[in-house]
Amino acid sequence: KKIVLAYSGGLDTSVLLSWIKETYNAEVIAFCANVGQDDELKGLNAKAKKTGASKIYIDDLQEEFATDFIYPMIQAGAIYEGQYFLGTSIARPLIAKRMVEIAKAEKAGFIAHGATGKGNDQVRFELTAAALAPEIETIAPWRDERFRTQFPGRAEMIAYCEEKKIPVQASAKKPFSMDRNLLHISYEAGILEDPWFDASDPKYKGYFNTLSVFPEEAPDKAETIILEFEKGNCIAVNGKLLSPLGVMKLLNKLGGKHGVGRVDMVENRFVGMKSRGVYETPGGSILHFAHRQIESLTMDREVMHLRDSLIPKYATLVYNGFWYAPERLALQALVTESQQKVSGTVRLKLYKGNIIPAGRKSIYSLYNPQIATMEADPTKAYNQDDATGFIRLNGLRLRTGALRDRKK
Ligand code: ARG
Ligand code: SIN
Repeated sequence: KKIVLAYSGGLDTSVLLSWIKETYNAEVIAFCANVGQDDELKGLNAKAKKTGASKIYIDDLQEEFATDFIYPMIQAGAIYEGQYFLGTSIARPLIAKRMVEIAKAEKAGFIAHGATGKGNDQVRFELTAAALAPEIETIAPWRDERFRTQFPGRAEMIAYCEEKKIPVQASAKKPFSMDRNLLHISYEAGILEDPWFDASDPKYKGYFNTLSVFPEEAPDKAETIILEFEKGNCIAVNGKLLSPLGVMKLLNKLGGKHGVGRVDMVENRFVGMKSRGVYETPGGSILHFAHRQIESLTMDREVMHLRDSLIPKYATLVYNGFWYAPERLALQALVTESQQKVSGTVRLKLYKGNIIPAGRKSIYSLYNPQIATMEADPTKAYNQDDATGFIRLNGLRLRTGALRDRKK
């Protein structure tokens, strides 16, 4: 039996590696995806081998993450439940895709992950595997009674590692769970389970300010930035051409410095429960905002309203793990088509947690000051007399309804 395990080198996945090897009497291939989580990858190879892996893959997926996952999602304007920028949700299908590729190459019949049985991540991993490699089976030890009984807490895990001589750094455990990548960092559980707990208080410095400062601690002076878009994708920042990965890194730095993109919400998990999450998405929130600005100038009204009506649908598909489902791919075709003329320049100011619009321009602009002006219109494109009939016809059924209701 061969199993490919999503592995980070932390306490949980180290225990997982050793446990599944023992329990299934299997060969375990460790896989670590670099999606910008900024973990220590040095020494991971030796660590995995010592823990019992036959082999380890460490793959840098950051450029692919930005280009093929984050950017198409930004084009869609996808935000879940009006607030969540989907930072964890969008990374899972990429990690799972690479994991099943490795399983296929290694002729392994199984993949394993360390997501719990109560969350969204398990669903995202496994729906991706279902869509891309239906023959591969999943092992999820957290859903296995035996695993949960053996490891009710961290203490048992640490004792297990000592006994098995598994190398783990007993890093100080934060009182919540985190997931970081190129797009965001999330904090959930632990002290955050009380939705009244105030995570915005700068006294929690060192806890909730990994990618961004608390707005209170941001500079007193606004910073102006300029983003260049081509077909709905940001291609340059402050005059510098950058790859999607380069854009994400720079915007994270700029946004982080000014404390933008901080979210604290109670969200609906796919598995049914409500959950409180705190997120830092500095670069992603700037991209969203700027993208909407350039769309406002260049996009046809009906195309925009149609795409907008699909935002909740698209966001839910990403959140629920249906990235590789046919309906997401069909939606994406519409979204990407809608971006043909979404090109131009956006100027923004970043100031103490705020993103402030400071101008937009485009050769594809649909905005015509001559038509919009309150002064005499030299183009004659708009005749004010036409509005009389326009309003009369639009009011016809309203007038009819009102007259009927007055009779009775
Ligand atoms: N609630 C967010 C989501 O479902 C964040 C999940 C964080 N995952 C984690 N393994 N810490 O996308
Ligand atoms: C987990 O359960 O592994 C994290 C939370 C989630 O997936 O929603």
